[in-house]
Amino acid sequence: MINKHQPASNPPPAGDVRGVTVSSPATVANVVCGFDILGFALNSPCDEFTLALSDEPGVQIINLDDFNLPTLAEKNVSGASLLALLDETPDVKGFTLYSKKQIKPGSGIGSSAASAAGPVVAANHLLGHRFSKQDLVRFAMFGEKVASGVKHADNIAPCIYGGVTLIRSIHPLDIISIEAPPLHVTVVHPQIEVRTSDARQILKQQVLLKDAIKQWGNIAGLVAGFIKGDYDLIGRSLEDFIIEPVRSILIPGFDEVKKNCKSAGALGGGISGSGPSIFMLSRDADTAKAVEVEMIAVYEKIGLAYQTHVTTINMEGVKIS
Ligand code: HSE
Repeated sequence: MINKHQPASNPPPAGDVRGVTVSSPATVANVVCGFDILGFALNSPCDEFTLALSDEPGVQIINLDDFNLPTLAEKNVSGASLLALLDETPDVKGFTLYSKKQIKPGSGIGSSAASAAGPVVAANHLLGHRFSKQDLVRFAMFGEKVASGVKHADNIAPCIYGGVTLIRSIHPLDIISIEAPPLHVTVVHPQIEVRTSDARQILKQQVLLKDAIKQWGNIAGLVAGFIKGDYDLIGRSLEDFIIEPVRSILIPGFDEVKKNCKSAGALGGGISGSGPSIFMLSRDADTAKAVEVEMIAVYEKIGLAYQTHVTTINMEGVKIS
């Protein structure tokens, strides 16, 4: 493998006919009750990747941001995904990837999934769309494994497919796009880092049957609510009896954010992925803005830096620019 360490100031290959630029969206995994099986894509923030075919074997990674992510392909989320794709494309020598991330690693809104998914969608474009979306999810899961230690697809699938996705199974992959009514999403990212691998480590390995019953009632209710466009059912189903009670203690202000945002009219919400971001769903843009005000008030009071996003569900997934 060729792995060059190059300065972040290297420009992408302007006008390179063998290159393509993609916008790869942030995602919300779990959607409260669907640990590892539900997710949706966001219209912002998005990462930007430019990928070019290369005559040098392997994947060269050139970072155009300040996150200082590894440039060794095997240790880089994008690199590992592209290497998995290269394993199935013997006619292709290699790629050069220019990575310009906006989604902060460790934020809980699918930074690693955006890094994994964007480059393989770009590669598929360069290679004449020879792979299915499901194949691309399969490649990108190698990247996700570099980040979190396990292959899960609840960020990657919505990142590639867009919209709300259900991952009924990862062995074999069975991904179902779920219809959803218009939804507004407010996200607050308190500026602490929670590593997905750590947030998975603390989970209990056993679940009480009484909790499982409530949980699968909510998952079924949430999916039904999305498909029927029933906002009240969506709101009632956004409850997590298994993961949130354990993980929420890692997030300062979590209970207050949740309570105040629901009082402001949010349908409901909870931890985005493995946190620390918290997301809330609302029926309309005004409520989503009011929810942002509540989130800001909590973190101003606590004195913890934060970032917010008010956005909508991205129906397209990774987009060729
Ligand atoms: N389902 C994963 C988890 C998502 O909660 O650990 C990580 O972003």
